[in-house]
Amino acid sequence: MIWSSLPATAVIIVVFSLVAQVLAASGLSYNGLALTPQMGWDTFNAYALDYDEDILMKNAQRLVDLGLRDLGYNVVILDDAMTEKTRSHDGKLIANATRFPSGLKSISKRFHNMGLQFGVYSSAGRFTCGGYPASLGYEEQDAQWWADLGVDYLKHDNCFNEGQSGNPKLSHDRFAVMSKALNATGRKITYSLCNWGDDKPWEWASTISNSARISGDIYDSFSRPSAGCPCSQDDFYCQIPGYHCNVMNILGKASAIVSKNQPGYWNDLDMLEVGNGGMSYDEYKTHFSMWAIIKSPLIMGNKLDELSPEDYAILINPAVIAINQDPLGSAASRQWRVQEDKKDEYGYGEIQVWSGELANGDHIVAFINGGSGDQVISSTLVEVFDGLRNSPKVQKSWDVYDLWGADTVMSNEVAARILGGESKLSHAEGYFNASRHGFQDAIARNDSRVVGTYAKTVPAKGTLTADIPRHGVALFRLRETSEGKGQKDEL
Ligand code: GAL
Repeated sequence: MIWSSLPATAVIIVVFSLVAQVLAASGLSYNGLALTPQMGWDTFNAYALDYDEDILMKNAQRLVDLGLRDLGYNVVILDDAMTEKTRSHDGKLIANATRFPSGLKSISKRFHNMGLQFGVYSSAGRFTCGGYPASLGYEEQDAQWWADLGVDYLKHDNCFNEGQSGNPKLSHDRFAVMSKALNATGRKITYSLCNWGDDKPWEWASTISNSARISGDIYDSFSRPSAGCPCSQDDFYCQIPGYHCNVMNILGKASAIVSKNQPGYWNDLDMLEVGNGGMSYDEYKTHFSMWAIIKSPLIMGNKLDELSPEDYAILINPAVIAINQDPLGSAASRQWRVQEDKKDEYGYGEIQVWSGELANGDHIVAFINGGSGDQVISSTLVEVFDGLRNSPKVQKSWDVYDLWGADTVMSNEVAARILGGESKLSHAEGYFNASRHGFQDAIARNDSRVVGTYAKTVPAKGTLTADIPRHGVALFRLRETSEGKGQKDEL
């Protein structure tokens, strides 16, 4: 869209409608927070139960130095094992003094001074999964302790829940106690459930929390099955969440419930594995793209001082992050799929087509090649637009912008310089400066570093086609051609 060519009234209407969307969205969040999916970094995937103050401060500093904070990754979550093994004689949690010699208050202050949020972890059970004291029965006391420490975010797990699960009411009521306790502190604390899809939190958790995990723990694999994650990707109501779930498995489980997302409440597909070494470049791109467009929280679970230039360039792709943070908050949905073992007449193995709507009327389209070789994937506009043959959108032509094109993917050379401390993201030549410009602003200005690289135009009733490597993705922003826009404006 060329904004300067639009009449002033049209610009005012678009701006007004964006503001109205944001205001309407804030009404959907139970505590006014997480109007777009949370973004940040968590200790667990890379460090398990073995982290300390040095590790925290080192990674927090990397969030700032690598420009990740300015792109939105602004919460640091201390996962399991942050306290001593027992409570104090009067029942209080005690910060682990060996791991955090300066104390949590000091860490919290330092995070805040760095423009970061302070996140913590507990379980709605007797113990955390790692066997540390947890919050069941101590909700008010623990919530107040965190509020006093300046906590901004709670990840709340499900281990040792003393049998208080098994149906949605039991789970809801148990987590609701903490939700209320957090609110009662008067401090704004994002509340993120981690009950692995147990009792279908997408059916009840939006009124008491900001997000909930939908599956067992992710592991650093694209599609390798594991006995640790026994439910298949088509077990939408999995009873045994497991802990070794691959990307395609979690994606399949998410596909049935994408419509449950809304500003203020998000299906959490679990942490990003990008940077941990278990997947290829294309696989990490697919993982990141899909988490982004389904509106999962984007919480990195890696070692920020060990990132490769390629992985760094994935995590900072501003065009993909902009889709995740789009103010409409509508998750893309799967339009169709061919499974690996059921090749279609053209011989395609596991391919998927996803699409969704964005706040300014653009659309996002993703093609995934989950098959074992390179494939050409095609999808008609009818398929992209929900199979609606008579949709007015099908009758329009669309400019197609590639979100993994030259304008949005940082070169390895520049990425290496930033990782090596010789340059800063904000100074990197020609790169999108998130601290200076917001995503929406950049999109309105048609900045190709956020809108994507123009690839082609698909005519009305046409077909979108892309050549995609094994386990890779094509991610496109579709924008009505100016010709189509003109017609609409005249109506
Ligand atoms: C799991 C949770 C992980 C991590 C771990 C800590 O239940 O899903 O993300 O928090 O506990 O022990």
